Amino acid sequence: MTEASRAKDEKVVIFDTTLRDGEQSPGISLDAGEKLEIAEQLARLGVDYIEAGFPVASEGDFAAVREIARAVEGPVIAGLSRTQLSDVDRCYEALRDAERSRIHVFISTSPSHMEHMLKMTPAQVLAEVRQGVARAREHTDDVEFSPQDATRTPLDFMLEVLAASVESGATTLNIPDTVGYGIPWDFGDMIAHIRREIPGDYILSTHCHNDLGLAVANSLAGVQAGARQVEVCVNGLGERAGNAALEEVVMALRIRPDMFDATTTVRTEELARTSRLVSRLTGYQVQWNKAVVGKNAFAHESGIHQHGVLAERSTYEIIDAASVGQIGSQIVLGKHSGRHAFGETLAKLGITVRGDALNAAFSRFKELADRKVQLTDADLEAIVAEELGTAVEAGFALEVLEVHGGTVGVPKARVVVTRDGRRLEASAEGDGMIDAACRAIKEATGIEARLTDFNVSSVTGGIDALGDVVVQLESEGVRVSGRGLSTDVVEAAARAYLAAANRVVRARAAALASPRAEVGP
Ligand code: KIV
Ligand code: ZN
Repeated sequence: MTEASRAKDEKVVIFDTTLRDGEQSPGISLDAGEKLEIAEQLARLGVDYIEAGFPVASEGDFAAVREIARAVEGPVIAGLSRTQLSDVDRCYEALRDAERSRIHVFISTSPSHMEHMLKMTPAQVLAEVRQGVARAREHTDDVEFSPQDATRTPLDFMLEVLAASVESGATTLNIPDTVGYGIPWDFGDMIAHIRREIPGDYILSTHCHNDLGLAVANSLAGVQAGARQVEVCVNGLGERAGNAALEEVVMALRIRPDMFDATTTVRTEELARTSRLVSRLTGYQVQWNKAVVGKNAFAHESGIHQHGVLAERSTYEIIDAASVGQIGSQIVLGKHSGRHAFGETLAKLGITVRGDALNAAFSRFKELADRKVQLTDADLEAIVAEELGTAVEAGFALEVLEVHGGTVGVPKARVVVTRDGRRLEASAEGDGMIDAACRAIKEATGIEARLTDFNVSSVTGGIDALGDVVVQLESEGVRVSGRGLSTDVVEAAARAYLAAANRVVRARAAALASPRAEVGP
C-alpha cells in the first residue's frame, strides 16, 4: 500500500453534540423522551459518538444521559464534565450503564475566561486539568479534554495545558473555537502546530462555533491539518449562531475526497430524516436554502438550470438528493387511504409511531385528507410530527375553534379546550384572527405567556398546501416552541400556540422536579 492510499483510508470520527451543545440553543428544551428519540436516530445515522448531555447541570440532564446510555446501541455515549472531582464522578454515574462511554472534561484557558469566570490563575487551571482528567481516566479509558476558548488562549499556555492533559490520561484533545473567532487557515495551522508539538497517543478534534459563519470551514481546515474527530450538531444547532453542521461537514468530506485524507462512516441517506426529526422536536425550522437538508437544496428555479438538470443531473447538482434521503413531493396517500396504508407508508418513510399516538395521527390524517385530497410524503411526516409534538401528557387539547371577522369588524375567537376530562371555554377579541385565537387560548388555559416568534410556511406547494406554523412563547423565563398544521392558517396558528402552551406546562413540572444548576459550559 502506498503512503497516499493508506492516508485516504483514515476515518474522521463524528462526535455529535446536538443533545448537549445543540440543546443549549436559546429556546430549546427537550425532555428525556425526545432526547432518546434523537439519540436513536443518531445511532441509525451512524455517528460515532453521541454527547448526550451535561449530567451535573440538573437531575433532568442526568436522567436523560443515563437513559440514553442504557438504551442506545452503537455509538459511544459521552457526557460533559467540569474538572471538579464530584462533577466527573457524577458524569460517570450517568454513563456507567453504556456499552461504551466517554467522559469529556473541559475548563476555560483563555485569559478572559480565567479572570472573569473562573477567577483562577493559569497554575490553578493546570492543576484542575490534571485532577479532572486523571479522575475521569479512573472511570474509563476514553477521556476527552477541551481547553474552552482555545482560539483566544495564548498558544504556549494551551500547549502546556494539552500536554498536562495527555500526561494525565486524555485520549482525545478537542480544540474548541468557543466564540467562533477562528479563520480557516489560521485554525488549520493551529491544529497542525498542536499535532507537531504534543507527543502522545491521542486524537485531535475540532469544535467550531459559527459566529462568523465559518464553523464548517474551520472544521474542514482542522481535518486537513490532521484532526480526526469533528464535533458537530444536526442542522448546525448550538450556542448563539450554532456549531458546525453535521450534514455539511459529512457531505463535504464525501463529495470532495480529492481534498481530504479521510472520510466518515455516516449513513448519508439518513441525513435529511435526522434533520427533520431534530427540527420538529426542537422547534428550530431549517432555512429553505440550507445546504444539504434545506427544502430548496435541490430545487432549480432558472430555466437554464432546469433544462440542464433534466438532461443530466450532474450539470447543476453535485449531490444526489436520494443519497441524503431528501423527500418532499411524492404523493403517497389520499382521502380514501385506510389505517393499514397509513401505517405502511409511515414505515416506508422510516417513521415509527405506535399505539395511541398512531391512532391519534391517523385521525388527524383523515381530518386533513378530507380537506386536502392528496398528501405527499412531506405532508405525512409533518402530520405525525405535529401530533407527537402536541401530545403532552396531561396537556390541553383543542376541541372547538370558531373565528369571526377579518377585514370587516373586530376579529373574535371562541375556543374550547379539554384537559383531564374538563372543558374550558373562552372568547377573545384581537388585532387579527390569529391574535384573537391565541388570546382565547391564553384565557382558556390560564397560561400567561408572551409570543416571541411566529413563523408560517407551507409543507409543500399548491393552493391546498398544509400551512405549517411554528411559534415560540416565553413564560416566566422559560422559552418553548410549538408547531401546528392545517389547511387553514388561523387553525394552524391556534394549534401551534396550544402545543407551546402544553410545553410550558411540562417545562414547569420538570423545573419543579429538578431545578437546573448554574453550571453551564
Ligand atoms: O464551545 C465550547 O467551548 C464547548 C466546550 C464545552 C467544548 O462547548
Ligand atoms: Zn460549544
